[in-house]
Amino acid sequence: MTAEIINGNKLAQALRAEVAERAAQLCEQGEKPGLAVILVGDSPASMVYVMNKEKASKAIGIHSVLEKYEEDLTEAALLERIRALNVDPRIHGILVQLPLPPHINTHRVIETIAPEKDMDCFHVVNAGMLMTGMPRIRPCTPYGVMKMLESIQYPVVGSHAVVVGASNIVGKPMAMMLLQAGATVTICNSKTRDLGHHTRLADILISATGQRHIIKGGMVKPGAVVIDVGVERDKDGKLWSDVEFDSVREVAGYLSPVPGGVGPMTITMLLVNTIEAAEKALQAKRVAS
Ligand code: GUN
Repeated sequence: MTAEIINGNKLAQALRAEVAERAAQLCEQGEKPGLAVILVGDSPASMVYVMNKEKASKAIGIHSVLEKYEEDLTEAALLERIRALNVDPRIHGILVQLPLPPHINTHRVIETIAPEKDMDCFHVVNAGMLMTGMPRIRPCTPYGVMKMLESIQYPVVGSHAVVVGASNIVGKPMAMMLLQAGATVTICNSKTRDLGHHTRLADILISATGQRHIIKGGMVKPGAVVIDVGVERDKDGKLWSDVEFDSVREVAGYLSPVPGGVGPMTITMLLVNTIEAAEKALQAKRVAS
């Protein structure tokens, strides 16, 4: 079997056209959607991510503000900036790019973002709402993966999904969203003993560990959907991901590649979240007036 490739670029393009339409409608009604992205330090990988986010936002008509700060920015200064953005009516969404420098308490930073402006769904209020089945906002990468499964009309209900990686950014919320969509979910991590035993049971296999080629063809159930989330660039600039593409392609039914898979979908779902936040803000203003 040779897997069908899930083209994240193509799917993202189609969704962005819809989002641009909603952004135009908001602008017509005097509520231009606004997104602030904060980057602290000069990590090249983070820089690429935030520039891509800004470019995509501007392309669909979002008022995008990219704030770059030096590595030695104090936590107090960052919290003060977030508090100002929380009450800025032109800004509907805030994203603080992670990881932050070690002298800054990431938890405190996330909890300072107003929950209704937390575009990542990292705030405990939003994570709790997701967990209890009442999501107000959905985390961008898992949301993008769900859209990919939807695009191939995969019957998630009753399927066995295995998520490898248990981060707050991807693994945990991914497992929660699959569970709520009716899958039976196993959560593994890079240290799981006999990982292949678990992954071979997966109808849907999602890997987000950041460990190079942790998933190989022999660890995949024939016909499974495999979504590759983990990605890193080595010192020579070569891109590595969790899934060994060539061997897995021969076994899986569907495979999401790197690049051109989850990456563009994550950015797209950030745009969707920003538009939804702006739509809610407009609705709230109308109710109040
Ligand atoms: N760093 C890596 N992925 C993400 C993400 O989805 N959101 C934020 N804020 N930082 C990240």
